[in-house]
Amino acid sequence: MENNKRPESMARIDNAALADKFIDEQVAAVKEQVGDKKVLLALSGGVDSSVVAALLIKAIGKNLVCVHVNHGLLRKGEPEQVIEVFGKRLNANLVYVDATERFLSKLEGVAEPEKKRKIIGAEFIRVFEEEARKQDGIEFLAQGTIYPDILESGPVKAHHNVGGLPDDLKFELVEPLKFLFKDEVRVVGKTLGLPDEMVFRQPFPGPGLGVRCLGAITRDRLECVRESDAILREEFAKNGLAGKVWQYFTVVPDFKSVGVKGGLRTFEYPVIIRAVNTKDAMTATVEDIPYALLQHITDRITKEVKGVNRVLYDLTPKPCGTIEWE
Ligand code: XMP
Repeated sequence: MENNKRPESMARIDNAALADKFIDEQVAAVKEQVGDKKVLLALSGGVDSSVVAALLIKAIGKNLVCVHVNHGLLRKGEPEQVIEVFGKRLNANLVYVDATERFLSKLEGVAEPEKKRKIIGAEFIRVFEEEARKQDGIEFLAQGTIYPDILESGPVKAHHNVGGLPDDLKFELVEPLKFLFKDEVRVVGKTLGLPDEMVFRQPFPGPGLGVRCLGAITRDRLECVRESDAILREEFAKNGLAGKVWQYFTVVPDFKSVGVKGGLRTFEYPVIIRAVNTKDAMTATVEDIPYALLQHITDRITKEVKGVNRVLYDLTPKPCGTIEWE
């Protein structure tokens, strides 16, 4: 990428008027760059790719082809939200690919974290490539690259960059957010009318729930992660913690322990809750969650999530624990 330095004259986008101005400028720039050609975008539903999608829909409408790959490791309700917001409300040219079975069968029996990550990454590129080949006349690839992705390639490096495509699919890049910081991307997203759940979403790793379903992924434990995560998110939202805690999620390890339910012994999985605050994800502190809320969440998870008989709260800061468990 040439010209990767944010212009010094560029004002910090911290209000709707400046966001409107930015949107107008980018709409014009995108129109100028792509003309009447088609642009492809891997739309994960995360903040950056969603804002790029909304911006490009405004600029070129149906000439933006959004591909949403459901790798089966997304959080509860995520693919449905992408379909609702982009497919229905914004009337996008949206290709939805449910590749769940493909990913889960590739991951079967694979316990080593880096191997799991590699399989998920490689399979994602393969699915995206297949979809790209089905489209005629694509000349551009849009990406949700933001300024921190250019400044550093830290642990939260963008997962949406579809690097690794074969040479004949190396399109010219469209990166309208490349000089924006995350808070500016959110202001632009809000101004474009995206829903708050999308614009103020917590970071979510590319390999998704795959790094939270420890060891070899099984469908029953994946459901435990997905359902317990949904309960945690619902309770955090209800109790005013959603916008306050940087990242919060549940983890399910690959062992069981003994418990008792309805007078009978059970042998089921534990769920671990993680809730951390950080600026840059390099270090993190643990959020002080009210005890009564932790008890309520524990009660809900053990009652509502099949196959779970214990809930634990991870009190470890980073260092020495990482944020994710895998
Ligand atoms: P750790 O676990 O290293 O996480 O303390 C720091 C931040 O990075 C995210 N993370 C990932 N993001 N692909 C991603 O896109 C990954 O494989 C991955 N692993 C960790 C993590 O969620 C946290 O925000």
